[in-house]
Formats: sequence, structure tokens, C-alpha cells
Amino acid sequence: MDIERLIRKYDATAPRYTSYPTANHFSDEVGPADYAAWLGNITPETPVSLYLHIPFCKTMCAYCGCHTKIIPSYDPAADYVEHLLGEIDLVAETLGRAQPVSHIQWGGGTPTFLTTDDLRRLFDRLRARFALRDDAEIAIEIDPRTIGRDKIDALASLGVNRISFGVQDFDPAVQEVINRVQPYETVRDVTGWARAAGIDDINFDLMYGLPLQTEDTIRRTMAQAASLAPKRLAVFGYAHVPWFAKHQEKLEQYDLPDPVARYRQFMILTNALKDHDYHPIGIDHFAKSDDPMFRAQKNGTLHRNFQGYTTDTAEIMLAFGTTAISQLPEGFVQNTPLLKKHRERVENGALATVRGIVVEQDDLTRRGIIERMMCHFETDYGVLSPAAQASVAAKLAGFEQDGIITRDGTFVRMAATSQIFTRLVCTAFDAHFKPASQRHAKAV
Ligand SMILES: C[S@@+](CC[C@H](N)C(=O)[O-])C[C@H]1O[C@@H](n2cnc3c(N)ncnc32)[C@H](O)[C@@H]1O
Ligand code: SF4
Repeated sequence: MDIERLIRKYDATAPRYTSYPTANHFSDEVGPADYAAWLGNITPETPVSLYLHIPFCKTMCAYCGCHTKIIPSYDPAADYVEHLLGEIDLVAETLGRAQPVSHIQWGGGTPTFLTTDDLRRLFDRLRARFALRDDAEIAIEIDPRTIGRDKIDALASLGVNRISFGVQDFDPAVQEVINRVQPYETVRDVTGWARAAGIDDINFDLMYGLPLQTEDTIRRTMAQAASLAPKRLAVFGYAHVPWFAKHQEKLEQYDLPDPVARYRQFMILTNALKDHDYHPIGIDHFAKSDDPMFRAQKNGTLHRNFQGYTTDTAEIMLAFGTTAISQLPEGFVQNTPLLKKHRERVENGALATVRGIVVEQDDLTRRGIIERMMCHFETDYGVLSPAAQASVAAKLAGFEQDGIITRDGTFVRMAATSQIFTRLVCTAFDAHFKPASQRHAKAV
């Protein structure tokens, strides 16, 4: 297979399939009343996951595509904490009980932008309003540049047992252009502090496809990352989405690697990580063989949600804060992106939902097909209606002719060397996808 020819041929965009239907199909036809009704349907014994979004950072990384803001003083964050506390109360009151919780994820932005006192107040409120299971995973994203040993110790005492450090790249020239200067020693120190505080479950986020990265810098970065022995690595291809993140335009003055160069970078980093005993998980994660994520992939229980790949098996995710997306059996709901509106809603005793989507039975079926493909590189669409199967088969025909997939009836498997096309292949199962009219990042 001439993979580089195929990459040029399939130079298209596709969703990341962290949900199905994907978030660009949410609309304001779904609002707070729907969310309240769906919360009311949750049975008392059902365990849920919680997500808290903290949309603040100290400085803007030039590549950043996250929902975050740079704020000059702490005041807006202090304000936000009050409204998050209010939102936790509101959701718990709508549930009418302390719902069991199996997993908490703090994301952003940078959750540790908040002071230790504010983080403690939020943790205390979660523990007061929900029934955290003793074995709950409590994970948080941390920017290594902006955390000290005291705060890591405090997080451990609050129950945090998994940390994702944003690393991206260790090369000084790359760090300079992405406006994220973060020496290796900084990452080494924070990793050591986390372990000393008893937090062994450490993930690193790394990136490829950034300006000035070369095959050599990527090899070095992977070796340096591996030398610190995180349990997991997420390696994201830079998503250039300047219509959403205008500050990314600054990176256009550099030669961004084209899809073929990105593919080569990805293969180099995959092989470098394999040499250090990291196994590829799905399209962009790597894990040591003693990590639960590796076991989940082996035994077929790996899942994908808004945070990417996860071992979390809860089917309900309740999300707090601006832009946060909750997942319930009836559908998805998303909070307002605006701090002001978030405050207004919570002050008025209303949920902060502004859009969402009702999930139909057909969506649930297709979600299962897509999740299986994204997690395990094989799937079976035989559960669809005969007409839907025919439509999928027509969309898959080109991929099959090009050797990207193999097919046995309705059973589809990605070819071993073509897993980078997985998101594109998944568009064939996506009944909502319209190729030309949607703005996603490049699929490769
Ligand atoms: C919320 S940040 C992680 C926590 C913290 N704010 C930090 O940067 O250290 C989430 C991760 O998303 C990834 N990321 C951000 N913007 C991206 C983009 N445009 N394309 C691909 N990955 C991106 C980075 O790897 C980053 O570490
Ligand atoms: S990558 Fe992390 S630290 Fe940098 S701007 Fe984005 S959210 Fe903030």
C-alpha cells in the first residue's frame, strides 16, 4: 500500500468522535428543562462520572484549541468558583439525592489555576452533595509550569489519584514558538513531587504537527518523556482551527507539516514509544502493559468520551462549568460558553444548559459501531437496517478498494498500516455527517 499517496488522496477533515452524535449537531432545541427531566430519570443506584471545567490559564499557548481564557486578575476565577458551587448544589437538588460517583475529571483550561482553598471548597461540596465511591478515580489536568509542590501535596490529600501533565514537546526552539517554555527539569520535578505525594498514575500530553518539530526533535522528546516513566501518554496531532482559536493564526508564519509529514512524525513517535514499552491504544494514546487502559483495550472494555479514551464505564457524565457537556441516556446537553450567562443562570436557580441533542435509537446503535472502531479498529454494522447497511457499504467501497479497510460482510477492520484513517472511515457510519459543510480539524 502506498500510504503517502493515500494520505494525499484522503486529505479531508473528520470529527474526533469523542461523542456521537458529535457536538456540532447540538442545537438550542434542547435546554435546561430537558436536562432537569433527564436528571430526574436517573435511578438511585446508578453510578455517574463528574466533569468540572475550569476555563482559565496564566498565558495562552499559541497552539491551544481548548475552551480557556487568560485573565489578568484572580477575581473572575473567584467569582466562577461561587457559581460552580451553586451549580453543584442545583444539579444535586434536581437529582434529589447523593448520587454514587465512580469517576471525577477536572479539565480546562488549567484547573490548578484555582487556589488550593478554592479547589478544597469545590472538593468539599462534591463530597457533601455526591456519594464518592472509595475506589473512585479522581483525575486532574495540570500545567507543570504553574504548580508547586505544596499544591500537588494538597491535591493528593483531597483525593486526587491521577494527574495529566501537559508536556507537548521538550525542544527549546519548539517551546519558544508555541509560547510554552517548559524545561525538561520542570516536568521531571513535578512528576517526582506527584509520586512522592503517592500519585503514581501519571499521564503526559504530547503533541506532533507543531512548527519546528522534526523527526529528530520528536524522537528526543519521546525518549525524554519515556525516561520519566508516565503510565500513559496522549499524543495529539496539532489541530489547526483558527476559525475557532484566532490566536493560532500566529503559527501560520511557520511551515506547518503537511499530512504526509505528520504521518511520518506519528510513525516515528509510535516506534520510539514502542521501544520504551508503550503500547498504542486507539488513535492517539499509549500505555504501559501494567496500565488498566492497556488491559481495557485487550479485554474490549475501552471507551471513548469527551475526555478521549477512558477506562470509565459509567454511562452518565454530569458536567459543570462553562462549555461543559453532560451525557445521559436520553441525549447530550452543553452549558453556556459565557461566564456571565453561567453566573446569571445559577444565580437564578437555573441549570446552565444552552444546547444539546436528543439521542434516538439509531444514534445509540451507530454510537456503538463508531466507538468500537475508534477503540478497537474493527466493528460490525450488521445491526443497522438493510437500507442503512447499503448506504454504509457504498461509503466504505472506496476505502476497501484502496486497502484501508478489509471487509467480511458487515464486519470491517482497519488494515494494520492504515489506522490513521480511522476517523475518516468512521464518517461512513455517521448518519449526521456532511463532508463539505462542517468545520473539523484534518483527519490525519
Ligand atoms: C486543557 S490542556 C491540558 C492542561 C493544561 N492546560 C496544560 O496545557 O498543561 C489539554 C491538552 O490538549 C492538547 N491540545 C491543546 N490544544 C490542542 C490543539 N490545537 N491540537 C491538539 N491538541 C491540543 C494539549 O496536549 C494539552 O495538554
Ligand atoms: S494548552 Fe493548556 S495551558 Fe496552554 S492555553 Fe491551552 S489550556 Fe491553557
